[in-house]
Amino acid sequence: MALWGQPAVRALRLWGPGVHIICDGKGGYLGDIGGRRPIAFSAGVSGIFGNGGSSKKEKLSLQDVAELIRARACQRVVVMAGAGISTPSGIPDFRSPGSGYYSNLQQYDVPYPEAIFELSFFLYNPKPFLSLAKKLYPGNYRPNVTHYFLRLLHDKGQLLRLYTQNIDGLERASGIPASKLVEAHGSFASATCTVCRATAPGEDFWADVLGDRVPHCPVCGGVRKPDIVFFGEPLPDRFLLHVVDFPMADLLLILGTSLQVEPFASLSEAVRSSVPRLLMNRDMVGSLAWCPRSRDVVQLGDLVHSVERLVELLGWTEDMQDLVQRETGKLPGCDA
Ligand code: APR
Repeated sequence: MALWGQPAVRALRLWGPGVHIICDGKGGYLGDIGGRRPIAFSAGVSGIFGNGGSSKKEKLSLQDVAELIRARACQRVVVMAGAGISTPSGIPDFRSPGSGYYSNLQQYDVPYPEAIFELSFFLYNPKPFLSLAKKLYPGNYRPNVTHYFLRLLHDKGQLLRLYTQNIDGLERASGIPASKLVEAHGSFASATCTVCRATAPGEDFWADVLGDRVPHCPVCGGVRKPDIVFFGEPLPDRFLLHVVDFPMADLLLILGTSLQVEPFASLSEAVRSSVPRLLMNRDMVGSLAWCPRSRDVVQLGDLVHSVERLVELLGWTEDMQDLVQRETGKLPGCDA
């Protein structure tokens, strides 16, 4: 039974030990993985998403959210991030019409856009993905103000966890510790042989990719794939931290994502109904559009402008400037 249409909530589906990316973002899902039936959560909605919720209807504003953070009324902030937080760093997102990766794949020999991130296609022809990966080489980009805002939230002890769909590594580059990060769609930090499963540091993978060579495993000769999550692959075990983090969260920030890919997108429903959710994105997305809650706050438009406005309301502008100055001085290739 597809869980999509449930009006109240889309529970996360667990496929046995792992959680798999199960949809292509158009509401259809890629079917059961390996024939194993999904195990929907047994708990009721209130058991997962809390039955809190303010009795009176109150519309919150960005100023109210800033006040909750500034007064430290929110100490367990969970963040959901997507490719929109990295476009200001020069990395295209996926679905923005015209500029997103999926609008610019003509140069690659792929049957349809998402194929470039599908395991079966990669095993058939790894070259389109490897050409795209070369463009994504983490060393070519720098964190931007959104990454540093999230680092500041961590430095002030109020970031419970940052769940990112991004594989560009800019969250780590901004100084957010791995303990505070869930890279839900993996990262280029390591690579695995698609045949014998031997693992290797990401540097080995990049040496081949930057040299326009298909990375091959020195043990068995199989093709090596970076440990990013392709459609049809299980998410990292660390993703399951959400089962604890989201019910504990006292504020949810959703930044720069279309909320089109499951099971990540459904996390937006996993905080208690009393918990404010702040969406900062160019456009309205996901369940905040079709199933809004009374304590949702939506800040549409350019993300950098929205973040700078929030930082100003928080009174953190000076702290932010100091942090950016300190951190950019550390990055390779930046003048100290
Ligand atoms: N300011 C505000 N919003 C922005 C900006 C910006 N500067 N740049 C992009 N956005 C918004 C876009 O309008 C879009 O709503 O960010 C969102 C990015 O959505 P996607 O391109 O779909 O990226 P994402 O949500 O991260 O995709 C999820 O899809 O293909 C898979 O695995 C891939 O992790 C990726 C997943």
